[in-house]
Amino acid sequence: RGIYFGKPRGFGTNDKGEETGFNTEIYSAAEIDRIARVAFEVARKRGGKLCSVDKANVLEASMLWRKRVTAIASEFPDVELSHMYVDNAAMQLVRNPKQFDTIVTNNIFGDILSDEASMITGSIGMLPSASVGESGPGLFEPIHGSAPDIAGQDKANPLATILSAAMLLKYGLGVESAAKRIEAAVTETLDNGFRTGDIYSPGTTLVGCKRMGEEVLKALES
Ligand SMILES: NC(=O)c1ccc[n+]([C@@H]2O[C@H](COP(=O)([O-])OP(=O)(O)OC[C@H]3O[C@@H](n4cnc5c(N)ncnc54)[C@H](O)[C@@H]3O)[C@@H](O)[C@H]2O)c1
Repeated sequence: RGIYFGKPRGFGTNDKGEETGFNTEIYSAAEIDRIARVAFEVARKRGGKLCSVDKANVLEASMLWRKRVTAIASEFPDVELSHMYVDNAAMQLVRNPKQFDTIVTNNIFGDILSDEASMITGSIGMLPSASVGESGPGLFEPIHGSAPDIAGQDKANPLATILSAAMLLKYGLGVESAAKRIEAAVTETLDNGFRTGDIYSPGTTLVGCKRMGEEVLKALES
């Protein structure tokens, strides 16, 4: 949705005869309602706080976005809704990322902010993701790709993939207790000082992909 798919789009010529390129940021009320409900449901399963990010001070598409998200909030009185302009959100993510619990935003802002957020964790090897619609099935995967430059060297950080399984349990299957066990095992493994190369710092224990996985299993069983 949004500007990546909106029409009209294309190339043209302006009245000075200059070449132009153009795209359309467009959302229908029904689309925003659908996205907002998924976001409120996610926030409910997290810390109960939802921040809607837009550019409602200049974009009509964002004005409708804010209006609809605000309207849908009445269905979720247990979730605390706030709004933030995207330029401020980009700054706040770097300044104090912990202030956020769940963020809902349009396609292009989410595309950019999610990459920015990935660096806060230190490595893309740490970040799981879930693509969920109104009704399943969802798609759960680490945000990174196949890392061809380190393939077969036992160097990859497996935590993003392991945490994706936790997201599957939580958001796909609704088995929160099992998800929490996996998340706690990952936290414990990190607390025990184990690090793959991408997140290594002096004073921690450098391990490969296989060993990291084994340590998470140990923590899970303990
Ligand atoms: N979600 C997806 O399906 C997805 C996302 C990104 C890239 N890809 C695909 O993956 C392939 C490689 O793409 P790329 O190299 O641009 O991105 P990439 O995410 O595979 O790698 C980017 C950099 O991050 C490192 N990295 C990635 N995962 C890591 C991990 N778990 N532990 C440690 N380091 C890790 C890699 O070594 C590399 O230096 C391409 O075919 C691309 O299309 C798929």
